[in-house]
Amino acid sequence: MLKILFLDQSGKPGGAELCLIDIAKPYRDRSLVGLFADGSFKTLLQENKIPVEVLTNQSISVKKDSSFFLGLNSLKQIIPLIIKVVKIARGYDLIYANTQKALVIGAIASFFARRPLVYHLHDILSKEHFSLTNRWIAVNLANHLASVVIANSQASQTAFIEAGGRKELTTVIYNGFEPKIYQTDESDIRQLQQELGLVGKFVVGHFSRLSPWKGQHILIDALAQSPPQVTVLLVGDALFGEQDYVQQLHRQIRVLGLEKRVKFLGFRSDIPQLMAACDLVAHTSTFAEPFGRVIVEAMLCGTPVIASKAGGAMELIKPGINGFLFQPGDSQELAQVITACLHQRHNSATIAHNARKMAIQRFNVSNINQQIAQLLSSKFR
Ligand code: UDP
Ligand code: GLC
Repeated sequence: MLKILFLDQSGKPGGAELCLIDIAKPYRDRSLVGLFADGSFKTLLQENKIPVEVLTNQSISVKKDSSFFLGLNSLKQIIPLIIKVVKIARGYDLIYANTQKALVIGAIASFFARRPLVYHLHDILSKEHFSLTNRWIAVNLANHLASVVIANSQASQTAFIEAGGRKELTTVIYNGFEPKIYQTDESDIRQLQQELGLVGKFVVGHFSRLSPWKGQHILIDALAQSPPQVTVLLVGDALFGEQDYVQQLHRQIRVLGLEKRVKFLGFRSDIPQLMAACDLVAHTSTFAEPFGRVIVEAMLCGTPVIASKAGGAMELIKPGINGFLFQPGDSQELAQVITACLHQRHNSATIAHNARKMAIQRFNVSNINQQIAQLLSSKFR
């Protein structure tokens, strides 16, 4: 069994971090997850009995649009972190960088510690998502120092190659999920619906951190164009400090007079139950979503899902067969699908049933973990 030093920049549990829990678990007896920030992600790793250490107490701002070095403020921050990672890495067989800042630190450390580097790419390296400098740094470090780049979708792989990344480094491996977690108890769901005042409503759930490109505002616009029994649940928090956007959403809801039809639930840990309590899950990213865990989770819960037609979402959904797609940003089209689902529940139930069957096969965490194990052992044994 390989000894792996996993690195992740975030202290908070975003999709890349939740994916890392599943990837690190099979290696937990001999591995370590090093984080560049403290927070609830550390606790989640501990609950999963995955050894974890916070490697720096200096906060590294996580801004996708600034240059990495500006984000770090100064070399004063970065050098001690690299030195620490080099020392730790000597006790492991390889470094597995799970985020972009982890790639920067991990790549330099892999050079000095003489350990191979794996980069798990959870991002679309396009101009919508990242500055030219950030893309250049990521692609060049990966090209020169990584032995393998695992892309979380074909969309991420394609963007990496278009940004100048070496194709032969890349392998696409989707996120894995444990289907059992998404099987819920009907009486629990009914109770939750009662607690949240959802009985008799047509509930559209949005499960994502509150962030402009996740497009919660598109769903609010669509709600204003949907029949009155439609209600929206916004599940998720502004994980990376996007408080202005939260204020903007509240303003938009007030202006449209939708206060009684939108509920903000904040960050929740009972995603399967909440998804099962919804009639439809909406994914509304305005830029291409790299993968979109929430889309697969909705499928596993048996709730119909609509997603914006870009990036990884297009690899997950075959429209009309296992879900719905709409043009990113087109709230009118989204409202039409919401209304159609409300009136044709039988049709959307069939679609959700197909989606569930497909998702159980295609994204089963044990198959996905096997793909990763095979890839790593073929390269590093
Ligand atoms: N999530 C959660 N609680 C919340 C909102 C979201 O646990 O309140 C989870 C969600 O179930 C999903 C992940 O956060 O597994 C978000 O991953 P996704 O790939 O959809 O988007 P990301 O935020 O990583 O871009
Ligand atoms: C990132 C991406 C998201 C993806 C997740 C897991 O957070 O934004 O689309 O699902 O990683 O790979």
